[in-house]
Amino acid sequence: MADQRNAALQYAHDNKENFLRAYREILAIPSISSDQKHVEDINRAAKWLAAQLQHLGMEKVQVIPTAQHPIVYGEWLGAPGAPTVLIYGHYDVQPVDPLDLWKTAPFEPTIIGEDIFARGASDMKGQALVALKAVESLIQTGGLPGNIKWLFEGEEEIGSPSLEDFLTRNKDMLACDFAVNPDSGMMGKEYPTITNALRGIAYFELRIHGPKHDLHSGIYGGVVHNPAIVLAELIAGMHDDKGRVTLPGFYDKVRDLSKKDREEMARLPIDEKHFLEQTGVPALYGEAGYTANERTGARPTLDVNGLLSGFTEEGSKTVLPAWAMGKISMRLVPDQEPAEVKKQLIQYLNEKAPADVRWELKEHQGGRPSISNMDNIGIQAMAKSLETVWGKRPYFHREGGSIPVVAQMQSLLGVESVIAGFSLPDDNVHAPNEKQNLPNWYRGIDAYIHFFLNLHK
Ligand code: BES
Ligand code: MN
Repeated sequence: MADQRNAALQYAHDNKENFLRAYREILAIPSISSDQKHVEDINRAAKWLAAQLQHLGMEKVQVIPTAQHPIVYGEWLGAPGAPTVLIYGHYDVQPVDPLDLWKTAPFEPTIIGEDIFARGASDMKGQALVALKAVESLIQTGGLPGNIKWLFEGEEEIGSPSLEDFLTRNKDMLACDFAVNPDSGMMGKEYPTITNALRGIAYFELRIHGPKHDLHSGIYGGVVHNPAIVLAELIAGMHDDKGRVTLPGFYDKVRDLSKKDREEMARLPIDEKHFLEQTGVPALYGEAGYTANERTGARPTLDVNGLLSGFTEEGSKTVLPAWAMGKISMRLVPDQEPAEVKKQLIQYLNEKAPADVRWELKEHQGGRPSISNMDNIGIQAMAKSLETVWGKRPYFHREGGSIPVVAQMQSLLGVESVIAGFSLPDDNVHAPNEKQNLPNWYRGIDAYIHFFLNLHK
C-alpha cells in the first residue's frame, strides 16, 4: 500500500496539466441552475461528468432525469468487504451577475498568478474534480482500495428540490458506510479544515402591493402608503437593537452553546480581524453576546439578499411605486426547521404589515441545518490525510453556509458526511471573480488520495 501511495501521488504530480485541462473544460460550461436559458448547459455538464465516470471505469453510469436537472450516478463495487464511500458533488453554479464587475469572462477560465478564475472554480467544480482526479490517480496505479459510489446533482444552488425524492426512492442504490462531501472550504491556506456543521436555510420573496399602478408622487404622496417604505419598515423591524431577529419564536428551537462548544470555537484560527479583512467593512455587526465565529457558525441570522422597487435608472422620476420586493433569507441552526421559520415570518407579517397595503410571500429554497457525528472512520481518515499534506492537524469548523444534502442524507439514508474541500475565504464564491487557488487544489487532490488509502490500512 505504501507503494501505491507513492505511485498515486506521483501520478497526480505527473498529470497536473491533464487535470487542469479537465478542470478548464467543465468550468467552460455555464451550468447555471436557476436560469432556464441554461438547461442545455446543465445537461452538457451532467454528460461531461458521466463521461468522466465512464472513463474511470465506473459501472452503472447514468444521467438520471428529475423534475428539474439531472442527477449523475456511477459506482465501482469491486472490493467486497471493504467500506463503501458515497462521493457527493454538484455541477451547477450560481448566476454571474453583475457581469460588469468580472475582470475575466466567467466561463472562460483564466489563470492569473496562482489562481484560476471562473464561476464554479471554487464552488464547486474544482472540489468535485479533486475527488475525481484523486480517484483517477488510484485507479491508474493499482486500483481503488474500496468501493465508491458517485452522486452529482445539478440543483444544489437552488436548494436541491429534487434530491429528497431521489434519495428516498434510491436508498438501496445509495447504501454506503458514509458520504464524503468536498463542497466546502478551509479557513485559510495554512488551516486544513473539516466542516463539522452547516447552517440550514429558509428563503423567501416578499412583495408589498400598494396602488394598482405607479402614481405621481406629488398628486398622491400623502394619501397612499408607499410600498417601498412599508417594505423598508418591515425589514427594519426584523432585528432589535441587540442584533437579534424579532420573528416570533425564532430562537425557541435554537440549541444553546455549551461551554465546550464555545471553547472549541474560540480556538479556531480566525477571529474578528479575519472577518474585517475579508469584508472590508469598518466594523462588524451581529447578535450581542456572541463572537464572530459563533455568530456565523452556530447562531441563526436573517439577511436581505435583494431589493427592488420604483425607479432605479439614472436620473430622477417622481413616482410612488405600485409595489416593492425584497428577497429575505434566514440561516438556521439546529434544531430550527425551515417550515417553522416560514410560519414565524407569516405571523410577523400578519402582526406588523399595515392594513393599507397587501403582502404576498413566495417561498424559495429551504434546507435543514446539520451537525456531523465525528465518531466515524471517514473523519479519522480525512483528518490524518489533511495532517499528512499540510503538516498540521485539521481544525473542525462550523460553517455558516448551507449544504442541504448533508441533513437529507442523515435523515433519509442514515448516512453521515465527511465534509472537506479546498475553497478559501477570499475565493469570491457566489460573487464576481470567483477563483480557486491552484496550489491548494493540487494539495487537495493529494489529500484525497491519502484519504482513500487511509480508509484501508
Ligand atoms: N458550497 C456552498 C456552501 C458552502 C459555502 C460551504 C461556504 C462552505 C463554505 C454551497 O454550494 C452553497 O453555496 N449553498 C447555498 C445553499 C442554498 C442555495 C440552498 C448557500 O449556502 O447559500
Ligand atoms: Mn454555492
